[in-house]
Order: sequence, then C-alpha cells, then structure tokens
Amino acid sequence: MIDSMVAKHAAWPKKDDIIFALAAKAQSATKEYGTDKVIDSTLGALMNDNGDLVCLETVYNELKTLPNTAIASYAMVAGQPDFLEAIIKNCFKDYKPNGYIKAVATPGGSGSVRHTIYNYTNLGDSVLVSDWYWKPYATIAEEYGRKVENFELLNDKNEFNVKSFENNFERLLNKQKRIVTIINSPAHNPTGYSLNDDEWIEVLNVMKKNAENKENRITLLVDTAYIAYAGKGDERRKFFKLFSDLPSNILVVIAHSLSKSHTMYGMRIGAAICISSNKEIADEFYYSCSHSSRANWSNCNRGAMEVLTKIENDETKLKAYEAELHKYKNMLQDRADAFVKASEEIGLKILPYRDGFFISIPCKNAKAISDEMIKENLFLIPLEMGLRFAVCAVSKEKCKKAPALIKKAMDNII
Ligand SMILES: Cc1ncc(COP(=O)(O)O)c(C=O)c1O
Repeated sequence: MIDSMVAKHAAWPKKDDIIFALAAKAQSATKEYGTDKVIDSTLGALMNDNGDLVCLETVYNELKTLPNTAIASYAMVAGQPDFLEAIIKNCFKDYKPNGYIKAVATPGGSGSVRHTIYNYTNLGDSVLVSDWYWKPYATIAEEYGRKVENFELLNDKNEFNVKSFENNFERLLNKQKRIVTIINSPAHNPTGYSLNDDEWIEVLNVMKKNAENKENRITLLVDTAYIAYAGKGDERRKFFKLFSDLPSNILVVIAHSLSKSHTMYGMRIGAAICISSNKEIADEFYYSCSHSSRANWSNCNRGAMEVLTKIENDETKLKAYEAELHKYKNMLQDRADAFVKASEEIGLKILPYRDGFFISIPCKNAKAISDEMIKENLFLIPLEMGLRFAVCAVSKEKCKKAPALIKKAMDNII
C-alpha cells in the first residue's frame, strides 16, 4: 500500500483551513441557538447585523444588466484595457503618483501577491513581512520555494517599528541582493493598524538609502485589500503620492483587490499595479506578470471587469456606489469604535486599531482561549500571537459585549 502520490514539493500537512473550519462551527451554532445567541467573528467578509453577507446593490444591479456575452467572453490575458484604466483610477483616486504606472488584472489581491513574490525573488529567497501577518503570504511563498521572514510590526509605543523593519530589511537585502517586502496598509489584517504618512516616509527612507547601491533590487508590495474602508474620505490614499519619482531600483507594486471594496469576494478580480520611475522597468513588469497570468489562470473574470469599468466611467453610477459603500464604511467604523471603547472600559488589551475589518488581542494560549470562547458561543480566530476578532462580521451590539466575554475567558485561562 502506498500512502502518497504527490511529488515531494507538493506534500503539505493535511490540515483544513482553521478559519473556514471555525466559521462552519459558528454557522451550525447559529442554526442551533439562533443569531442573537452567537457571536460569529470568524470570516473576513462584511456582514449585516443579522449575519448575512452584504452584497452592494450598486454592484450587483450592474452585473445583472450585462449582456451574457460580456460575462461569458474570455478577457485579454492582462485584462481589458478599459478595465485596467478603471482599476488604476479606483486605486489612486486623486493621489496618483508620478511615474510609469502599469496594471495587470489578477484574481483578487491574492493573484498580485503571487505574481510579485514569484517574479521578484529568486528560488530560496525570503520575503519580508511583519510578525502579525495574513497567513496566505507564507502559503504563496512556500508554494514557489520561497519563505517569509518577519520584522516586528509594532514597537513598545505601539507605533510602526521602523527600527525592526530596517534591521531585517538590510539583513535580507545584504544576503539576497534583492528583496520583496509586503506592507499591508491601510487597515492591516489582522490588527487594523494603518501606517501614517510619517511612518511611510521612514519606510521609504530605509529603501532609498539601500537603493544607493545600484546592484540592489528593492520591491515594495503594498497590499491595499481593505483600503475602501479606511479613514475619512480618501485621506488614507494620500501616501500613494510618496511613491513618485523613486530611484529606478525601487519598484512599488500595489496588490489592489475589489473583493471587499465591491463585495466581489468570489468573483475574483483585482490587479497588480506597478509604479516605477523607469519606463523599461514598468514594461518589464507588465510582460512578466502577463506571462505569469497566462501560465496560471490564463485570464480573469470578464463580467467583474465590466462591472468596475461601467461604475468608474459613469459619474452617476460612481456616486451611487460611493454612497452605498460609505454607509457600510460608517457601520464598520461604528462597530470598531464600540469594540475599542468596551475594551478600554474593562481593561482588555488590544493592538492599536485604526481601520478595517479586524481587531487583534495579543495573548499567549490563543487556541485555548478560542476553545473556551466556543463554549460561550463566541467564535474568533486563534493566531500565533493572539486572537483576531472580525468586527466586519458582528453587529455593534455584539461588539460592545464581546470584550468582556473575551477578558473573562483570558483571565480564567492565564
Ligand atoms: C491582507 C489581505 N490581503 C489580500 C487579500 C486578498 O484577497 P482577495 O484575493 O480575495 O482579493 C486578503 C483577503 O482576505 C487579505 O486579508
């Protein structure tokens, strides 16, 4: 009897995704006990107060008016040209940096993470990410024979830890002579942290100093998966301007996703968008990513491209979409405020939350605490360094209650 057929590089631990496993448990608890008895903060998707998925009307009405051919057709490998213009506009709004900007459609932000890691590191290299990070960065890196190494996201003042970033950035760059580093901001998953503009300037100063050695190749991947829900108005987009006129051995790639901004999670659309001061480097990015797309998924969801293009190119539709999004952005911010305030009141230590779908609670024994919480019908995700609470999925009333329940479980376990 043989017990394995896969090639060595494709053998991974036989473990189901913990987030989806806990979400399934939460859903069956909800069926058994009712919505008001269960706090399900597992999934990173925006839910209304009844726990149903929010699907933006302005997006789905548009999809339903498309002729079948606009949904069924193949798209161009790099994405339809009008879509690429539309997604660049949607990403930067009024803060488009100076430089050569090229985009390639990807299935969500995940696709651009994949393209950037694969195309800008060598086999065996490490990608630099913060210690609190979205696990698929490591899954994607490992799939291609790369690894992740960490810097500390926060210093002891709970600000972005530029020192740790600099030390680890230089350590890896000196070894590899090239580096891809991922910064997920604004609205970091899982902490809700957003770098302010001064912190971005410090990050870029580290990169510019190291770019003086022209042998070095520096790629900054900015993961903007949650940007649509960050800050007041478009204030959290201002930092894009800082990517203007950088040295040509610094390439910035934005992993831009429409999964959350347009509630198109399963429709799989986004783009890898590069900014370079050098036309050759931007063109090279475009052709390298197009090759990767052809090799991996060929082309992306044509109907989803059409929806974005139609909304972005029509002032009335765009205003209606923005008004609908705004309503949910406010709902999310209210929920997060309620959670943060309740945590302060009862002395639950949380990481500094600025924006987005998640709040994190640093602790040891996260798994034990999460298991304990299940008994109380509160479902949250245990991570290596703490617990992740998805405010996107939980009503304001429940966000008020949850911190006390979590604190009680933590006090019992520690
Ligand atoms: C931090 C982060 N980056 C990127 C993504 C990409 O998601 P998608 O591929 O669905 O756009 C997600 C989705 O959960 C995320 O949390």
